[in-house]
Amino acid sequence: MAKVEDSGSRWAAAVWVINGPNLNLLGRREPALYGRSSLAEINRRLERLAADLGVAVETFQSNHEGELVDRIQEAASRASAIIINAGAYTHTSVAVRDALVASGLPVIEVHLSNLHAREDFRHRSFIADVAIGQIVGFGPEGYELALRAAASLIKKRPARGESGRRPGGARRPR
Ligand code: DQA
Repeated sequence: MAKVEDSGSRWAAAVWVINGPNLNLLGRREPALYGRSSLAEINRRLERLAADLGVAVETFQSNHEGELVDRIQEAASRASAIIINAGAYTHTSVAVRDALVASGLPVIEVHLSNLHAREDFRHRSFIADVAIGQIVGFGPEGYELALRAAASLIKKRPARGESGRRPGGARRPR
C-alpha cells in the first residue's frame, strides 16, 4: 500500500521523512551550522507544504540505528518515497543503506549543513549513491526542497502495485 488517506479524505501518496541521531536537538545544537529551527518547527512547515503539494507526510526521528532500520523497513510497504537525514549514521551505517536499498523506494538524502565543506569524514555518505539525489547546505529549507522533489517524483511514477516493481527495487521513477 503506497497511499494513505489524507485529512481531506482524498488518497495521497505518503512521503516519510526520517531523521537520525541528534536531530532532535535542532535549534539548540550548533545553530551556526544547523540553524535555529527546531525539528518540530521543520516538521510543521513540511506538513503545510505537503498539504499544498497534495501529498501526505509522516515524520520520524530516532537516535538509534536499529529503530531507523525498522522504520525504513516499514516504509517499504507504507510509503511512496523516503526523505532521510541519517545524521552521523550517514557516514557509518551500512545497515541504514541496506534498508534503503531493500525498500525499493525513491530516496532523497538531506543534510542541513554542506557536508562537502566540512571535515573529510563527512564527505563520505553510505546513502548518496543509492539515493535519487542529495540536498545539502540549505539548512532547514533543504527538507522543503526535498519534499517538493519527492512530490514531483511520485507524481511521475505510478504507485507500486499499479505498475509492478522491478526486481531488486526500482529507486528511479520510470
Ligand atoms: C548532518 C551532517 C552530519 O555529518 C552530522 O553528523 C549531523 C547532521 C546535517 O544535517 O548537516 O548530525 O546530517
